[in-house]
Amino acid sequence: MASITDRTVTNHPPTALRHAGVRSWVDEIASLTSPEEVRWCDGSAGEYAELCDALVDAGTFVRLDPVLRPNSFLARTDPSDVARVEDRTFICSQTAEDAGPTNNWVEPAEMRRELRAWFSGSMRGRTLYVIPFSMGPVGSPISQIGIEITDSPYVVVNMAIMARVGDEVLEALGADGEFVRCLHSVGAPLESGAQDVAWPCNPDVKYISHFPEDREIWSYGSGYGGNALLGKKCLALRIASTMGRDDGWMAEHMALIGVRSPDGATSYVAAAFPSACGKTNFAMLIPPAEMASKGWAVTTVGDDIAWIKPDEQGRLRAINPEAGYFGVAPGTSEATNPSAMATIRENTIFTNVALTDAGDVWWEGMGVDAPEHLIDWRGQDWSPGSDTPAAHPNARFTAPADQNPVIDDRWDDPDGVPISAFVFGGRRSGTMPLVVQAPNWAYGVYLAATMGSETTAAAFAQQGVVRRDPFAMRPFAGYHMGSYISHWLNVGRRLSAPPRIFAVNWFRRDENGDFTWPGFGENMRVLAWIVERAEGGAGAIESPLGWMPTHRDLDWDGLDHPEEAFLEAMSVHRDEWAAELTAHDELFVNLWDRIPKEMLAVKELLTSGLWRSPEDWAMLPDPT
Ligand code: OXD
Ligand code: MN
Repeated sequence: MASITDRTVTNHPPTALRHAGVRSWVDEIASLTSPEEVRWCDGSAGEYAELCDALVDAGTFVRLDPVLRPNSFLARTDPSDVARVEDRTFICSQTAEDAGPTNNWVEPAEMRRELRAWFSGSMRGRTLYVIPFSMGPVGSPISQIGIEITDSPYVVVNMAIMARVGDEVLEALGADGEFVRCLHSVGAPLESGAQDVAWPCNPDVKYISHFPEDREIWSYGSGYGGNALLGKKCLALRIASTMGRDDGWMAEHMALIGVRSPDGATSYVAAAFPSACGKTNFAMLIPPAEMASKGWAVTTVGDDIAWIKPDEQGRLRAINPEAGYFGVAPGTSEATNPSAMATIRENTIFTNVALTDAGDVWWEGMGVDAPEHLIDWRGQDWSPGSDTPAAHPNARFTAPADQNPVIDDRWDDPDGVPISAFVFGGRRSGTMPLVVQAPNWAYGVYLAATMGSETTAAAFAQQGVVRRDPFAMRPFAGYHMGSYISHWLNVGRRLSAPPRIFAVNWFRRDENGDFTWPGFGENMRVLAWIVERAEGGAGAIESPLGWMPTHRDLDWDGLDHPEEAFLEAMSVHRDEWAAELTAHDELFVNLWDRIPKEMLAVKELLTSGLWRSPEDWAMLPDPT
């Protein structure tokens, strides 16, 4: 086999590289994949600019108008490569039991055999890039280092935004530090003389494979998002959740926000919502004017992932391992998320949005009328009469976190921020109240473990299909979901002051199909109550599900919302809960070999509470 020293190396390994294991791994992968060149990335602005220019020349990028959208680009993918591929995502732990029933499992030696065959020669005609990156501030005790090898320059420039990349990472790694091996190929070798396509990928063969015990990721065939930017879902959730299980910490699919209250104190809240439930909007929530004028404000630490570790005092501290946002563009507007709109004003990579004739971007739900003519995400002419969307529904922006006008001062504090409360919320048209506080940690773990979200837009009072998504981690837990729930209970036992746990539902409808809650910035009213409760204040009453605010416990200043709608949003109906508890049973049966016994005990308590209460439980209106 050829050695790396025999081939054209466009640049030398950085002097900061002292780790023989990194060198030999790069050598081994170069021998396997046969690239034309090997390039060590330094994460510099010059490298970013050079690669973006090359992507424009290759037709992968369109440079957007420098005045309308400075230093920004649009990429259009192959129509077969537009989203994460859950059915091709594998957790290849030593045993199938460890991966559990919510993951696809293949025996690791078998998976390695298959992958080696696909990766053999897969980078022919391409450049192999080596990206040293840190998830989390470089040198933080909570951070982790990865090395991604990829043959996609699109991945290099996106990773430069989403992670900390460069020589300082190699310095921190030293001669013998641990790193996660992240191997990626688009799976489209370029035969000599062949013309490349704008978005190389393998339309037929995709693997997103994880080897949790070896802390290794092999991704083949896709160039898109979480399939290819391996620091994000693959490392920061699937591999990191396994590291956390082994070492006593937690990697979570959570936004992390600071909530400043009128007394000037900031409390930090970690919130888990399944994909496509508005987590980025929540992370950048703008309070209603009347609450803002009293001193309420929300700042962003992270919008998608939190790494959470108990400190020496037994408090949980969290960091956002990412350095950028990979957010869904459609539906993002000045009305729904002005801070996201400000974040993506410049230095942003857009993927699969539409292009205006002026060289700017457009998408459905941008809050701006569609122009007469656009180029859609497939590169075709589009006009408002067209019957397909101009932007792909999963179109994205990749933007640096520090461009967010409401970024938290401590967003990259290496010590992390202390967590006061956890919030869990799905999209439910019925059953789940607007907000409830779990009476204790085990009860909170139960609410999080059984959370669900509707997969289809629920028309009127009809409920859609509820997919159980424990902790919003179903696609992201790197091991058995039952053990994951146990891990939460174990971590809780070691805490001196466990954060309070809340469940929310912004999406409940009444019998006419109307939303019972206005959502968006008005969610601040619920969040304010959550923070006050977590810090030991604010009133509440006991409901069949836990502690709830009455109408007078929330701040209604400036919101004209009927009290009946609030009471409806908070009501608990036994017939709905009978169906809900049956669905919990189905989940637990599926996880039977590892479900902790506390979950069954909490279910008993919950059931008896529900059947002791009136069949249709509702709190009383405020006294007049
Ligand atoms: C994401 C997701 O892209 O959860 O963040 O799918
Ligand atoms: Mn996510």
